[in-house]
Amino acid sequence: MATDYDLIIVNGVVVTDTDIAELDIAVKGEQIAKIVPKGQLKDAKAARTIDAEGGYVMPGGVDAHVHLQEPPLFGKGSTADNYETGSRSAVCGGTTTMVTFAPQKKSEDTLLDTLHATHAKAKDVCYIDYSFHLLVGNPSERALSEFKTLREEGISSLKIYMTYEALQLHDGQILDVLLEARKQQITTMVHAENGQVIDWMTAQLEKKKMFAPKYHGTSHPPMAETEATYRAICLSEFMDTPILIVHVSTPAAAAHIKSAQDRGLPIYAETCPQYLFLTKKDLDQPGFEGAKCVCSPPPRESEADCDDIWEGLANGTFTILSSDHCPFRYDDAEMGKKSSVSEQYPLGHFKYIPNGCPGIETRLSLTLGEDRLDLKKFVEVTSANPAKLYGLWPRKGGLIEGQSDADINIWYPPGKMQEYILTNDMLHHDVDYSPFEGRTLKQWPRYTVLRGQIVWDKENGGLLGKKGYGQFVKRDASSLAGPRKAGEWEIPL
Ligand SMILES: *[C@@H]1O[C@H](CO)[C@@H](O)[C@H](O)[C@H]1NC(C)=O
Repeated sequence: MATDYDLIIVNGVVVTDTDIAELDIAVKGEQIAKIVPKGQLKDAKAARTIDAEGGYVMPGGVDAHVHLQEPPLFGKGSTADNYETGSRSAVCGGTTTMVTFAPQKKSEDTLLDTLHATHAKAKDVCYIDYSFHLLVGNPSERALSEFKTLREEGISSLKIYMTYEALQLHDGQILDVLLEARKQQITTMVHAENGQVIDWMTAQLEKKKMFAPKYHGTSHPPMAETEATYRAICLSEFMDTPILIVHVSTPAAAAHIKSAQDRGLPIYAETCPQYLFLTKKDLDQPGFEGAKCVCSPPPRESEADCDDIWEGLANGTFTILSSDHCPFRYDDAEMGKKSSVSEQYPLGHFKYIPNGCPGIETRLSLTLGEDRLDLKKFVEVTSANPAKLYGLWPRKGGLIEGQSDADINIWYPPGKMQEYILTNDMLHHDVDYSPFEGRTLKQWPRYTVLRGQIVWDKENGGLLGKKGYGQFVKRDASSLAGPRKAGEWEIPL
């Protein structure tokens, strides 16, 4: 029997960043071939038809902040997931594209070697499509001169740190990076915390022999984030080039971002589920348990802080919602959270706890299940905007006929999924815990499609995707607003 299409999805409520409507979708090969009003595909022949039964149909998730298989960059910890297990976990939670980090160490001179080494880690093992942000640890003359080649190789973003001794750049180096990034239309991501303030606070706590995991939070005061965020905004405005402030956790930092945006500056911001769901209480658990929630910035003071971050998502302050999946095993004395336990510090020392939490698989379901965000806004911050900001649109993040890859999540119709309590054994990462264990899940993708293939079918086999199906995707410049003035940056005289 000749077929018109490879896959048809009917009876769904299609949600994109701009529209909600009852539409049916036809997929041919790897792309969205047609999107038509409900019922209009009834005579079309397809190899496979999925009845969405009234569930939401959305573009697949794009997670633009993922750490996998990184060498130990500071301290002993080293990330648990590799490209295979991290991308497997992603697809089982409805994320079809990820942008991970290719980290250059301070001792290294070149970025291109870093890029090629990271390609080698990802090649042939990923379950989902991927790209990399270059993490610039050493903006040497050579590294800066390579930005142009990065663009030719499909890389249009990089990340810098204002903290962590092993990676921290001083302001002059940040300006060097921004100047060259501006020339090459690269978006610079900034980890905005003041490293010297954190070191000073750490010393204060050590003098008082305060080593428990909860003091990680104390050592990273909101002020350190607020100051660095505002400084990053000033540097970006001076250079007139877009930046994205990663993992914003502090309302005062968010307010600086909002007022910069109100002035028309190309300041973009990211937050993560940690800052919507976790607080200081999660760091203050019996024994060493709080280490599970040690990440930077830390979960903040109270639910009022989380509410403010939710509001920032709703009102457009936050451009994207990423996982910051940065997994370390808990019960691992070599590479994980417990590498900070020693004879001298039997309950660990917060300063040595590897920073980061897993979350690539739970990002979409946890956030959607809360029912706190408008549906279009949910698609915007979890899929469309990361694709636009990082030069993947409209191939990723949208459902546009003839232009978008057929990357699709079909959710459970309201009321159809039995709620359950999240446990780590439901997840597909290579980590022995999730900071979100014990929470009630009200949603999960029922089906996930990646470039036309059904890669996840929750009730019939779960993971159906194949290792190695995921491809490197070359990226263009950001399609969100860039510098306000065209031409080269000039010394303001
Ligand atoms: C929007 O969210 C930001 C960040 O949470 C907040 O500072 C601001 O007051 C909110 N409202 C408006 C109208 O800007």
